Amino acid sequence: MKSILVTGAGGQLARTFKQLSGQYPDYQWRFANKVELDLTDEDQIAKKIAEWAPEVVINCAAYTAVDDAEKNPELAYAVNSSGVKALAEACDEQSALLIHYSTDYVYHNDLNRPLTEEGPCQPKGVYACSKWAGEQQALRFSSRTMVLRTSWVFSSFGKNFVKTMLRLSEKMERLTVVDDQIGAPTATDVIVRATMELVENYIDGGRKELSEIYNLSNSGVASWYDFACAVMELAEKDVKVVPIPGKDFPQAAPRPHYSLMSMEKIKGILKEEPPHWRTSLKKCLTELGEISKTQTN
Ligand SMILES: NC(=O)c1ccc[n+]([C@@H]2O[C@H](COP(=O)([O-])OP(=O)(O)OC[C@H]3O[C@@H](n4cnc5c(N)ncnc54)[C@H](OP(=O)(O)O)[C@@H]3O)[C@@H](O)[C@H]2O)c1
Repeated sequence: MKSILVTGAGGQLARTFKQLSGQYPDYQWRFANKVELDLTDEDQIAKKIAEWAPEVVINCAAYTAVDDAEKNPELAYAVNSSGVKALAEACDEQSALLIHYSTDYVYHNDLNRPLTEEGPCQPKGVYACSKWAGEQQALRFSSRTMVLRTSWVFSSFGKNFVKTMLRLSEKMERLTVVDDQIGAPTATDVIVRATMELVENYIDGGRKELSEIYNLSNSGVASWYDFACAVMELAEKDVKVVPIPGKDFPQAAPRPHYSLMSMEKIKGILKEEPPHWRTSLKKCLTELGEISKTQTN
């Protein structure tokens, strides 16, 4: 049986892998949380990967607090870059495939058109720079690597924009949300399904060496304001959402104005195009009990 190790088991993406793992019964799944596999502990990484000998390592562990990273650069780099290097080396030792996730924030360029994998990357801020460094480590130190750049991730698990909007809707009648930052929301189940299709292609293709970067998001485009309006509309919250420019909502880390990623490369591989983000948002709100099942059918 093919074995998969998922790191960062407490996070929203890893929890979705766990939720959907039953749909992939041909794999033996292992989920390791921060204690069982700490990306800041290089010795533990080498030891555990050698002991567990997975054929595929799906790295969902990351330091993801974008603004806090500005105050904690050492930890952000330790997890997002040095830890990824150690994981990549350990994977290489086992000839395991490493799937590593990165972010649209690595692009941060001024092209104002959908960003392609080969396009320029000018990450700004500690989180984005540490994730960019992590990509380089994954690609350099493991000879079987896929880096999936994703954006604006949401799910019914953990912390994310959708859950923040729902929480705020309980105590506020009016919310201001930035409307001059454009991207694509991405549901974790879309990431899981696409990842598993890539993994299956890799295994069917004879487990060759590879070094690839793919963009991966839901279809469609949105500003944070559009996304917030959709949450309130679909969950029928009586909240007025007011658009504001990003300069009126200062955040510690810089944010790109335009980070919609081109999906052409991955669309050439996946059997089906990822759904529109509104379709995934409805599903997420249903899981959260904010929309009744009869309403979504
Ligand atoms: N969330 C987004 O909007 C977004 C956007 C683009 C790309 N991504 C990327 O997508 C991937 C998955 O993100 P996510 O949204 O699932 O993040 P998440 O919910 O924050 O999960 C990350 C997990 O990693 C764990 N972790 C932190 N430090 C660790 C360490 N030293 N060793 C092992 N585990 C550690 C965290 O544990 P604690 O919570 O206990 O620290 C958490 O369980 C990440 O690579 C992220 O950079 C996310």
